[in-house]
Amino acid sequence: MTLIVHLSDTHFGTEIPAVVDALRNIVSARKPDLIIVSGDITQRARRAEFDAAKRFFQSLPPPLLVIPGNHDIPLFDLLARGLFPYRNYCAALGRQSGTWFGGDVAVFGFNSTSPLRHTRGKLSPAHFKATLKEAPPESPRNCIRIACVHQPLHTAWMQDAHNRLIDVEATAEQFSRHDFDLVLSGHVHVPYIATTRESFPALNRHFILSGAGTATSYRTRPGAPNSFNFIETGSNGEDAEVDITLCRFDEEKSEFLENPPYRFRRVQDGWKEIPPDISQVAAPG
Ligand SMILES: [Fe+2]
Ligand SMILES: [Fe+2]
Repeated sequence: MTLIVHLSDTHFGTEIPAVVDALRNIVSARKPDLIIVSGDITQRARRAEFDAAKRFFQSLPPPLLVIPGNHDIPLFDLLARGLFPYRNYCAALGRQSGTWFGGDVAVFGFNSTSPLRHTRGKLSPAHFKATLKEAPPESPRNCIRIACVHQPLHTAWMQDAHNRLIDVEATAEQFSRHDFDLVLSGHVHVPYIATTRESFPALNRHFILSGAGTATSYRTRPGAPNSFNFIETGSNGEDAEVDITLCRFDEEKSEFLENPPYRFRRVQDGWKEIPPDISQVAAPG
């Protein structure tokens, strides 16, 4: 079993101190095997914002895997955007992509951003080739393959569809073909957890999509408070399960509260959601 914390869109520069403290408390108490942050670490890619983010990440239990979002490239400083777009990011956080192999998972971080695009993200076949070069030699069937990319393949709300990755159908096909089990994302500040069975019905092999909301920023959307996800994997050869628990910030209690988990199981053509066991739910008195 591996326990992963998936944070996204921390947007340091717009963070809420009480939410940052509550997040540190719940994450530290659970002692995860890995923390993944799927981009938009800062609001404007300023050095002071990256320094604040770094201090926060250093206060959490390691290890940490981080990728950039569109906000992690300078927007107004055109010289920096053109000549050294990732300078502040790299100075604070290191590589813009990376991998982590441990427990029963293999995690691959993809950098979908570019200073040539404003907010949109793209993954080319070259991204897959370069990132998968770092894969361990054993078969992907023996572990759970997780990808992390800032922009999503699918969104909860129709009005966010233009924020999906460019060439979204072809990119979903690439993830399926390379045997990915779970694709993590952020960007739209609205969580979305489901398999690809409805969003990409034509795929030969289905995988899980898990988009996280903004973990710490006041830039929330109506009806979508600050949130993050716990991901628990259990894999034994062909048999594999993933539980994803969305944790949302409760302003009154000033702490993160856990929703009931989404549960998924690997079957012959990929992944399917296991419906909640309603026999466990108490009947109203
Ligand atoms: Fe964002
Ligand atoms: Fe973004």
